[in-house]
Amino acid sequence: MISDNILGKFREIETPFYYYDLDILRSTLEIVSKESLHSGYKVHYALKANSNPGILKIISSYGLGADCVSYNEISAALEAGFSPSGIVFAGVGKTDKDIEAALKTEIACFNCESIPEIEVISGLASKLNKTAPIALRINPYIEAHTHKYITTGIEESKFGINTWEIEEVLRRIAALKNVKLTGIHFHIGSQISRMSVFKSLCARINELQEWFAAHNTDLTSINVGGGLGIDYENPEKNPPFEEYFSLLHEFISLRPGQTLHLEPGRSIIGQCGSLISRVLFIKNGSNTLFAIIDAGMTDLIRPALYQAHHKIENLTSKGHIYRYDVVGPVCETSDTFGKYIELPETRRGDIIAIRSAGAYGEAMASRYNMRDLPSSVFSDDL
Ligand code: LLP
Repeated sequence: MISDNILGKFREIETPFYYYDLDILRSTLEIVSKESLHSGYKVHYALKANSNPGILKIISSYGLGADCVSYNEISAALEAGFSPSGIVFAGVGKTDKDIEAALKTEIACFNCESIPEIEVISGLASKLNKTAPIALRINPYIEAHTHKYITTGIEESKFGINTWEIEEVLRRIAALKNVKLTGIHFHIGSQISRMSVFKSLCARINELQEWFAAHNTDLTSINVGGGLGIDYENPEKNPPFEEYFSLLHEFISLRPGQTLHLEPGRSIIGQCGSLISRVLFIKNGSNTLFAIIDAGMTDLIRPALYQAHHKIENLTSKGHIYRYDVVGPVCETSDTFGKYIELPETRRGDIIAIRSAGAYGEAMASRYNMRDLPSSVFSDDL
């Protein structure tokens, strides 16, 4: 909830900006730390969800590891205080430059997605006289029941190693001197709200563990990736971490010496962020009332890209309820945050909050139309 005091401060700040309620972030991190301590699972925050340096500092102070997809993300993680030994490096197209830098940093693990990638890592490691710890990202063929753009574990997806190829991959790894296989990795999609999907993943992992054991391959790390969804309709609601951890505990059979790793992004940072904007104009269409705000798809692309729903609130009006199409200023019809949204009577200058925008909001902002990037404001500083 945004208090009157905070709202008073918002009135003095240039919009649009991301507002991060750090109390929400800290209480989320406390739940996650408690669950991870209790279970012994290692949590790596997925930086791609939000790599704002102020946010990263807080997350690293809770002792989490980091899941990165570029060396720039690895640098940002190191800068924020994450330890190299807690950093995993994912991505279907890692560049030589990034691999080399990550090898020099001595990160915990490269999550690998193809034989050519493993060969390149081994070659570069050999030049540096190092051995790269690697995990195989395996495509488990599980439908995540989420938006198709963020479904990543089904057949013919570009991600992961196909199960029919694993035997060949093991043969190739055996011939390489500068990589060491330490684990297996999965990530089947994002914004997953059906717990049954994670249960299917656990069952699949158990089957694969049998297969690896039968092929005399020791694995010390089992990484289930991220994906836990949040409730965009209820921004005040915490993600179901307790349920998620206990599901993993109940359904994954770890073997002696194995550690379970998780890579949550959205569920850590989603609910604590709101995009704050001002209404520029109210415009009448033939049958539609448009509320044109000063935030656009360049600040938050999720509605335009994934038809994502974010709750929209007018923080400064208590009038009669009308329905508005809440749109941004960018020259694209897709620059729409919501259609037929019920809001109290809305006027020029009103302050609008687009909720649950902490994940994949600021991180995906662009300068299209040569717009400024949104700034960020932390509750602690107000
Ligand atoms: N691990 C890997 C390998 C990933 O690819 C991802 C996200 C995560 C972890 C973190 O997943 P999360 O817990 O945040 O679901 N831009 C999209 C989401 C893209 C997710 C990409 N991968 C959105 O705004 O919905």
